[in-house]
Amino acid sequence: MNELIVLNDQEVAELVSFDENLRLIEQAFADYNRGESYVLPVIREKIKKHNGFFGIKSGYLENQEVLGFKAGGFWADNKDKGLPNHQSAMMLFDPSTGQPIAVVAANFVTQIRTAAIGAIGCKYLARPESRVLALIGAGHQGRNQLEASLKVLPAIKEVWVYDVFQASAEKVVAELQNEKYSIRVAESAEQACSAADVIVTATSSFQAIVMNDWIKPGTHINAIGTDTRGKQELDPLIFGRAAVFVDNLEQCCYLGECQHAVDAGIISRQSIRAELGELINQSKPGRTSPDEITIFDTTGVAIQDLATAGYALQEAKKRGIGTIIKL
Ligand SMILES: NC(=O)c1ccc[n+]([C@@H]2O[C@H](COP(=O)([O-])OP(=O)(O)OC[C@H]3O[C@@H](n4cnc5c(N)ncnc54)[C@H](O)[C@@H]3O)[C@@H](O)[C@H]2O)c1
Repeated sequence: MNELIVLNDQEVAELVSFDENLRLIEQAFADYNRGESYVLPVIREKIKKHNGFFGIKSGYLENQEVLGFKAGGFWADNKDKGLPNHQSAMMLFDPSTGQPIAVVAANFVTQIRTAAIGAIGCKYLARPESRVLALIGAGHQGRNQLEASLKVLPAIKEVWVYDVFQASAEKVVAELQNEKYSIRVAESAEQACSAADVIVTATSSFQAIVMNDWIKPGTHINAIGTDTRGKQELDPLIFGRAAVFVDNLEQCCYLGECQHAVDAGIISRQSIRAELGELINQSKPGRTSPDEITIFDTTGVAIQDLATAGYALQEAKKRGIGTIIKL
């Protein structure tokens, strides 16, 4: 009989800090670029009856010896039930025997690893002197993205928040008031974006919200929300003027914001400048001038989840946290 550790969201939150997670995620992408970790094909399908998307993301981190998958997805109607739209859990296995070793609640994992990759996108690609930030979409990820971006962009002095559901924008603005910067609700996406040095999109939209004409030279865009076929946040024409970066080329061209610009022939896979691992390892260039428009498209890659959950498991064992069950 083998033993399996169960970690709930609260325990994972106790075990993994934002700064530690930032380091883990950078390491995971650097290793992936060197061929030292693996991403297996993603499954993501619509569950029509319940207006949900269910998916499985899996992989293997060779250096950290973490093998497993995250299963779950996005249920758009959960808000009305008082539940987060994202629901997921992970299972980890012993890579040398295949035995299941842990079940890890993954709502916090998703939250912290998505916040971390957004911060990494800003850290590597936004101009460090960026002063104005626009957040489009003030849901669960939006709020976390805003907090994470502000940690790595200390020169931000003005924040605009837009959400189609104004009460969501008002809530984020009220919660993140701070003497370091001014933060206001924008009346429109255009008002939020037109003066922005950095734009973060984190909506569940299926049509473009941020238009090409609003984007000034030097802007960096973190495209977070589009992680499924058909979702869309950006006018594809922006891609024609931008240097494009992705977390994972395959996923972004199929599931990410890049899908629309690739399908419309505005960019090709070959014209995408770099994957995140190549950027971190400096095997491909990042931003090449202050006037360049940069886009970082992230769909969420299994190695982010595995790096986070693997570290949580390692720390849980050291500190005696979690519930042990026998299988
Ligand atoms: N890239 C990743 O790794 C990653 C990780 C987690 C979630 N996501 C995606 O991020 C998106 C947001 O997730 P969430 O958990 O924050 O969802 P959420 O439902 O909590 O928030 C989405 C917000 O977007 C707003 N919105 C929807 N359409 C809009 C529009 N046209 N204009 C302005 N605002 C609009 C909604 O009102 C809501 O406040 C989803 O599409 C989700 O699948 C991506």
